[in-house]
Amino acid sequence: MIATAHSLQQLNTRPRSERAVTPPPAPAEVHRHGIMSDSHGRTIRDLRISITDRCNFRCVYCMDPDVQFAPRSELLTRHEIIRLARIAEALGVRKIRLTGGEPTVHPELLEIISGIRRATSVELAMITNGSLLTRERLRAWKGAGLDRITVSLDSLRPDRFAMLTRAAGSPATVLAGIEAAIAEGVTPLKVNAVLMRGVNDDEAADLASLARVYGVEVRFIEYMPLDSARAWDDAKWVSASQTRAQIERVFPLVSAPSEDRSSTARLFEFADGRAGRIGFISSVSDPFCGACSRLRLTADGKIRPCLFSSAEWDVLSVLRCGAGDDELRAFFIDASWTKQAGHGMHSDEFHQPARSMSAIGG
Ligand code: GTP
Ligand code: 5AD
Ligand code: SF4
Repeated sequence: MIATAHSLQQLNTRPRSERAVTPPPAPAEVHRHGIMSDSHGRTIRDLRISITDRCNFRCVYCMDPDVQFAPRSELLTRHEIIRLARIAEALGVRKIRLTGGEPTVHPELLEIISGIRRATSVELAMITNGSLLTRERLRAWKGAGLDRITVSLDSLRPDRFAMLTRAAGSPATVLAGIEAAIAEGVTPLKVNAVLMRGVNDDEAADLASLARVYGVEVRFIEYMPLDSARAWDDAKWVSASQTRAQIERVFPLVSAPSEDRSSTARLFEFADGRAGRIGFISSVSDPFCGACSRLRLTADGKIRPCLFSSAEWDVLSVLRCGAGDDELRAFFIDASWTKQAGHGMHSDEFHQPARSMSAIGG
């Protein structure tokens, strides 16, 4: 169903109580198959690992200024992250994305990258706010095995950037980081932008122009109810089609062939043939849940089968009780089998997850 802003007005941003325990067992034949899949016919190929809940930004659509972080002892260690990455690959995962919080604030990021690279041959990507990217760091990460990055950037105007991120950063720093990543070959690089009505939605074409300047993919993500302030409001929501219309007033677009069925973004190229692509991630207006191949691991060691899961599975406790690889594999298979059909945002039953995007790992 394509949603209108009107049909979202009743969205329930109050959390449902969430539990973090052991998943019910998946059928024996699923275990025999040895690949992570779910009861809706989808196969898990993509694991997003939040390596830290810490962040140096406090984006308005994500994290409260006074957010409480988990004690470090409750977070996955580097060795635990690497071990779980190896197990996930054995169960069919082909792509691992490191997320946060902000992964570049993790003091052992380099060791995590090199450890995952030694333990697996997955495609290894990372999502970052772009505030801490230097050529030296990018060169080291690439040398250690990082394939590519996605950089978030929601405004090119310094005053707005400060208001949106509530941090001492600037768009110029992020742009310099993007240039550094391109120079170091940490590519293909993607830029993610979240537009909010009356806040930064007049910058759609300006942000889209970055795709032309740098020859990269700029993706517009619809604002989702995943903020810790629970301030999501349909009046602030901008649909992908509205964003596209705004961009097309300046840069006409043509549909681009999509290589990946499970991709979150619908892709477009510039009609005038200039390099660069534009993507629209219409998670709210036109969900892509039916082709979802993602599973998430939170920084505190919980498996979340969906961004909007109401249940999460406590793999950290199992690990720290001395589980062997077989037991961990079975745990992953059971956990992924529980993946819900979709986010259910358009149903009366919808409740915003208790965790914000920063605590889930975007
Ligand atoms: P690739 O580089 O194409 O692998 O993409 P990526 O890993 O940078 O990002 P992906 O396309 O998976 O996600 C981009 C953004 O889309 C995320 O940061 C989220 O905001 C949103 N998103 C990702 N996965 C999901 C999902 O499963 N459900 C929903 N609703 N939104 C998602
Ligand atoms: N809605 C949509 N996207 C979000 N992100 C974080 N919070 C939200 C939200 N409430 C995006 C960030 C980043 C990625 C990790 O998720 O902008 O690009
Ligand atoms: Fe996948 Fe859940 Fe996101 Fe839908 S909402 S695409 S099922 S993670």
